[in-house]
Amino acid sequence: MYILGINAYHGDAAAALIKEGRIVAAAEEERFNRVKHCAGFPAAALRYCLAEAGISIEDVDHIGISRDPSAHLHKKVLFAAKRLSQIAAPASRVEFAQASVYHRDTENTEDAQKKSETPASPNQPNGNGRGSGIFRQIKDRLGNAAKVRDLKDEVARVLDVRQNSIRAQFHNIEHHRAHLASSFYVSPFEHAALLSIDGFGDFISTMWAAGEGNAIDVLGQVEYPHSTGIVYTATTQFLGFPHYGDEGKVMGLAPYGKPRFMNEFREIIRTEERGQFRLDLDYFRHQSEGVDMTWDQGSPIIGRIFSDAFAQTFGPAREPGAALGDRERDIAASLQQRLEEVGFHILNHLHEETDLTDLGLSGGVAYNSVMNGKILLNTPFSRVYVQPAAGDSGTALGVCYEINNGILKSPRGEVMLGAYTGPAFSDDQVRAELEQRKLVFQTYSDEEVTRHAAQDIADGLVVGWFQGRMEFGPRALGNRSIVVDPRRADMKEILNKRIKKREPFRPFAPSILEERTADYFEQDHPAPTMLMVYQVRPERRAEIPAVTHVDGSGRLQTVSREVNARFYQLISDFEELTGVPVVLNTSFNENEPVVCTPAHAIDCFLKTRMDVLYLGNHSVRRK
Ligand SMILES: [Fe+2]
Repeated sequence: MYILGINAYHGDAAAALIKEGRIVAAAEEERFNRVKHCAGFPAAALRYCLAEAGISIEDVDHIGISRDPSAHLHKKVLFAAKRLSQIAAPASRVEFAQASVYHRDTENTEDAQKKSETPASPNQPNGNGRGSGIFRQIKDRLGNAAKVRDLKDEVARVLDVRQNSIRAQFHNIEHHRAHLASSFYVSPFEHAALLSIDGFGDFISTMWAAGEGNAIDVLGQVEYPHSTGIVYTATTQFLGFPHYGDEGKVMGLAPYGKPRFMNEFREIIRTEERGQFRLDLDYFRHQSEGVDMTWDQGSPIIGRIFSDAFAQTFGPAREPGAALGDRERDIAASLQQRLEEVGFHILNHLHEETDLTDLGLSGGVAYNSVMNGKILLNTPFSRVYVQPAAGDSGTALGVCYEINNGILKSPRGEVMLGAYTGPAFSDDQVRAELEQRKLVFQTYSDEEVTRHAAQDIADGLVVGWFQGRMEFGPRALGNRSIVVDPRRADMKEILNKRIKKREPFRPFAPSILEERTADYFEQDHPAPTMLMVYQVRPERRAEIPAVTHVDGSGRLQTVSREVNARFYQLISDFEELTGVPVVLNTSFNENEPVVCTPAHAIDCFLKTRMDVLYLGNHSVRRK
């Protein structure tokens, strides 16, 4: 039985396919169409999943999408009505009537589809009145909701097949249920507490649950407009980082600052009983004026979320590209610390409610690896499984498993320890690409290739490492990686100058042989998908300066032979040469989506100043 899951009309559009409960393929659309965080419909990822399985869409039994327009509908309607009733009285009757469109149009696909064709203006604050902001929000949501309902149409259209040739049963899986499923049914846990935490999906920002066997029992949730993700994104924008996914930059900036704005952030986001929290809505625009969000086939664009109250409290917003000062660093530090406080507040409640010590974590906020790394120190949880694609792309996989386990009650069996679910290319395919480009290359045996690459790394070269199946989720985990020597303090600067062009305050990450983790880090709970930050042992920091952040931390990947044999061998060979079981591992890209194909890798190699590129068993050296 084949089950296809889709995340569409959200950032990080993606498709995933499972067969008899085992993962066949999962990948983000951005890797194929080269548009960062691509929203819209994952047409290429869908075609890839089918090709990987060697099947056509007619063979698929179930198809689901990680949105359910009918979920929490009454709350959405109530919210829209309440907001509109607060807007200027003379217009309120008309506007209220319009608000009911929200409800009616969920039954009226065609009308809503037409409305969705009006493009949103990108990245502009909504300056034309509060009422119109609400209408736009409603209209945008209607458009999206209609598209979600027209999934069968869209699948048939992009695959160029007749609708009636698709025999699959279609499912709408609520956004956070899909997240929760993605962190439970493929985890090693039979019984676990689960937390999904993000911006918003289906009107909810945070959902927690207990998972047992083939069931997920939702225990609590936080509804629109309250959201930790929104606080982080709004502050990220205020600090002058406007792009989708820039939150990681603020997380990297935080250790340079002092959390001197804790009182302010404790007001901006207040904790309440039973794991709940609330925003001081005066600081935000999303619930009052509305925020333009563009989810077309390009990169997502999110308008200004923070209100003028931010400037009243902290002074003027930083312009993108302006110098970073103590104020920005201190705001970042305060935001990060407050996120952690709220996160542990929810998790401690979740533990109290379930008495469980295993935790499955998902949602965009679960990319906050600094918070994740402190969970074991600040809560009673003793094991944590973070879905490698914790953000919205991972909901494609969650949809598959919610259908497989939650709905169909099929037996469990898949444990996703790595994230290697994307395209692979044979040595013959790589050779053909190299020959076509007329590049001089060498070919090694399996034993030789890791030894040669380890020697190059130890010699201080910048090494492109392209192997096996591409990773799912944002982290390069040794298959689409650039690897260098972590012992060289200047490597960060070299990488930035030659390839990555990142802000100098952002750290680079270590990959370490799993069994050596405790020798170098203060915690040794496995982190196979690079979603935990631990403190490097003080006595080891000088040994691996290129991967030790300013506060002594490192966002590590623990590498086992079982999960990635070739990458494990590369690090082992490096250890044999140097005595250090750690390499610096950064994603194989230059300010673009991570490379997918050998052609992408060669393009990146040629246009940057990488020294040597290993593609499978072949290598190309810069002259
Ligand atoms: Fe989400």
